[in-house]
Amino acid sequence: MSDTGDAATIAALRRAGIAPAGRAVSLAPLSGGVSCDVWLARIEGEAPVVVKRALPQLRVAAEWLAPVERAENEVRWLQRVAGIDPRLVPAVVASVPEEHMFALAYLTPEAHPVWRDELIAGRVDRDFAAGLGRALARIHAATADRAADAAAFDSMDLFDALRISPFLRYVAANRPELAPRLDAIADDLQRRRVALVHGDVSPKNILAGPAGGVILDAECAVYGDPAFDLAFCTTHLLLKTIWLAGHAAALKDSASAFVAAYLAGVTWEPVGDLATRAGSLVAALLLARVEGKSPAPYLDGNAKETVRANALALLAAAPLPIDQLIAAWPMEHR
Ligand SMILES: Nc1ncnc2c1ncn2[C@@H]1O[C@H](COP(=O)(O)OP(=O)(O)OP(=O)(O)O)[C@@H](O)[C@H]1O
Ligand SMILES: [Mg+2]
Repeated sequence: MSDTGDAATIAALRRAGIAPAGRAVSLAPLSGGVSCDVWLARIEGEAPVVVKRALPQLRVAAEWLAPVERAENEVRWLQRVAGIDPRLVPAVVASVPEEHMFALAYLTPEAHPVWRDELIAGRVDRDFAAGLGRALARIHAATADRAADAAAFDSMDLFDALRISPFLRYVAANRPELAPRLDAIADDLQRRRVALVHGDVSPKNILAGPAGGVILDAECAVYGDPAFDLAFCTTHLLLKTIWLAGHAAALKDSASAFVAAYLAGVTWEPVGDLATRAGSLVAALLLARVEGKSPAPYLDGNAKETVRANALALLAAAPLPIDQLIAAWPMEHR
């Protein structure tokens, strides 16, 4: 049997000893991947693994550079969370920092479909969403006020490059009337050090496993404001009420269940404070998905205008706690 697939990655797997000499390797690209090469690697005699290699530039239109060290950041997050509950992440099989590459146990789509695909197919399960909310709160609670985690994930520069600048500062720079509010949200995110934040909790980065969500793609993990994860995922679910209008009510209900389960697990600070920060973040992130550097690719013209109008209305008003924001989310869209 001979090797098939990207020769440079196969060579890196051989150098690292992940693919032993004499054993054939076949690589197939996995979907997703704007910031990395992600391959399904079948190495003769081994269980299949997912191989992720950081690319120096993200594959999006606007220039958006990020250091390749984010691969090591992701491995650190995956290992830390495995220590909290190994069911929440794929196991790290190998990490090769000099190649900015790592290998994960492969979870098959039959047992672990991508949550986003489930939502698109209309399988909108509020209990699954609640389970994910509980799991996130557990990760945040386990890492809150822990100096070792703060030191291990001292990666605010990375989080700034991948999240705060493209989602918040970029919009603020183009919207002088909103700049004070958006910059204040960005400043607060930059300063606050509360717990270990994943930074990309989106349905495309969650696998819907039989025992609940499995979380992937932690490259922008940072010791920061846990409200960001709550808000980021909620923003995705609210955007999907517009995109997948046929399932809007179920999606909104899942967003409520996700948030309620999360808020019930907040032990490290007054829950109202966190809910209000998260509400402000949702408003800002909604606008970012139409006016930021990473616009949601699936929204057409009408849907974009709906998101923009909702986001502007939220940003013009006093901040709503995230649970109330969801309850007030309009359902008559077009
Ligand atoms: N351990 C795994 N088991 C099964 N599938 C996986 C695994 N890791 C990643 N995938 C699949 O590969 C896709 C891309 O992985 P990941 O999100 O980590 O990479 P990425 O380059 O950061 O992607 P993106 O920027 O699109 O979010 C995931 O959405 C998922 O479908
Ligand atoms: Mg991803």
